[in-house]
Amino acid sequence: MNATPGPTIADTIGNTPLVRLDRLTKGWDFSLWAKLEYFNPGGSAKDRTAHAMVAASNLKPGDTVVESSSGNLGIALAREAVLGDWTFHCVVDPRANRATIIHMEALGAVVHRITEPDPETGDWLVARRARVAQLQQEMPEAICLDQYSNTEAFRAHQEGTMAEIVQQLGHAPDHLLVAVSTTGTVGGCLRYIEKNGLSTQVTAVDALGSVLFDGHPGPRHLPGFGAGMVPKLSTQIKPHRVLRVNDRDSVMGARKLVRTETILPGASGGAVIAAVDMLKDTFEPGSDVVVILHDSGTRYIDTIYNDDWVEENL
Ligand SMILES: Cc1ncc(COP(=O)(O)O)c(C=O)c1O
Repeated sequence: MNATPGPTIADTIGNTPLVRLDRLTKGWDFSLWAKLEYFNPGGSAKDRTAHAMVAASNLKPGDTVVESSSGNLGIALAREAVLGDWTFHCVVDPRANRATIIHMEALGAVVHRITEPDPETGDWLVARRARVAQLQQEMPEAICLDQYSNTEAFRAHQEGTMAEIVQQLGHAPDHLLVAVSTTGTVGGCLRYIEKNGLSTQVTAVDALGSVLFDGHPGPRHLPGFGAGMVPKLSTQIKPHRVLRVNDRDSVMGARKLVRTETILPGASGGAVIAAVDMLKDTFEPGSDVVVILHDSGTRYIDTIYNDDWVEENL
């Protein structure tokens, strides 16, 4: 007997909801929409990126993959590893959420935790990438898909995320705010906008202390957005505006969103909400503003939603 046809979990990436944030914008004269990427099967926008990178690779059962991640791409690749029957090694730093690491390990990933930042730059991402290079020497057969230079990320968000936003809204948004790290998400959205001649103004929301787009290095405590080195992808794109948000404002933005809209975002989602607050007087009356919320706050319960952690760390 044939199985009843229907989607498997592998078919559920993308087509995430776009919801209007009416309560948050009460008294403001523009509409605000949120693309809820935590509806993806691994809980973040990185499911799209990982799936695109794997689909374009020649990975076979039995292969070994090694990658550095602040967490979400790690979960996404760990899922792909189960479904593709290969082994995944992920290098993380102490900023990765505990729940994220446990999720990766539950999926069978081998997690390598670095304990010291790069001695020269003081940066964790630089140290993670050095550990990836070291693992590749120890395991010469290991493949690195390199999320920092892999242009499949652009394709995933051009053909997926941004195409969906325009289709769901029924037209191009006036403004789009996107948190950045590898810049794959924002780059894919920009490519769609350029290819289709849209007038959408794109704001890259970066962490204060990140070096993306000529930022000055400084301490950052939140995982997911910002970068301590310039990823190759970021040199190929030009957002219309870059706004840097500090850790505390990101936390406040996240807490505001859950209290007004009942949406519990991760740290970068808090940053884009804080960015909307900073820019709200510049949005034209009647305009449609879209934010991408990369992940859910459930993994940040011990950190940005924990008063003691915030007092100790930020
Ligand atoms: C929570 C979160 N927000 C934002 C981003 C930035 O996405 P991108 O790497 O596509 O710039 C990431 C990437 O890991 C993320 O995990």
